[in-house]
Amino acid sequence: MDDYRELVSEILVTEEALQARIAELGREISKDYTGQDLHLICILRGGVLFLTDLMRFITVPITIDFMAVSSYGATQRQSTGQVRIAYDLQSEIQGRNVLLVEDIIDSGYTIASVLELLNTRHPHSLRVCTLLNKPERREVEVPIDYCGFDIPNKFVFGYGLDLDEYWRNLPFIASVNLDRYQPPEE
Ligand code: IMP
Ligand code: MG
Repeated sequence: MDDYRELVSEILVTEEALQARIAELGREISKDYTGQDLHLICILRGGVLFLTDLMRFITVPITIDFMAVSSYGATQRQSTGQVRIAYDLQSEIQGRNVLLVEDIIDSGYTIASVLELLNTRHPHSLRVCTLLNKPERREVEVPIDYCGFDIPNKFVFGYGLDLDEYWRNLPFIASVNLDRYQPPEE
């Protein structure tokens, strides 16, 4: 797997389109939270690139924190509906305006469980910002307040999203060439 180009079926979102949309989202978020502080929570690891680009376009005072959850086993891609907290937040969220920053919402189980957990900690507000959304795959309804792009039901990688942990550093979102790479459980 030395050359990502062999693994790409199609570039679904170019670097230019990503950056333009992220700037727009940042401006929209800044407008919505005018006069307030905002606490961004990034879900590791896929959301990292999105967080760091998005936060540069937010003009209200922000703080950031991270959490890691796992809903996918090492060899399977189907969400189980069960989410395990692998790394919890380092700061309290009670009374704060919290915005969850996610790479992709697929079945919806991950974000639904995270929202349920965070709500028990009584934030002042709790919203969701996802870069990508696969509406066709939704199994549980989740509120999405900010969405970068709706994408078709294809396994994608790049810009934070991995293929067996590699290629997160690509600056665009690509769909996988299924002749060259077989996602184990799609
Ligand atoms: P959900 O619980 O099914 O909504 O799964 C969301 C998580 O699954 C995301 O945070 C990703 O880590 C992973 N995921 C879903 N679809 C893809 C994909 O097409 N490529 C890479 N990771 C994905
Ligand atoms: Mg993720």
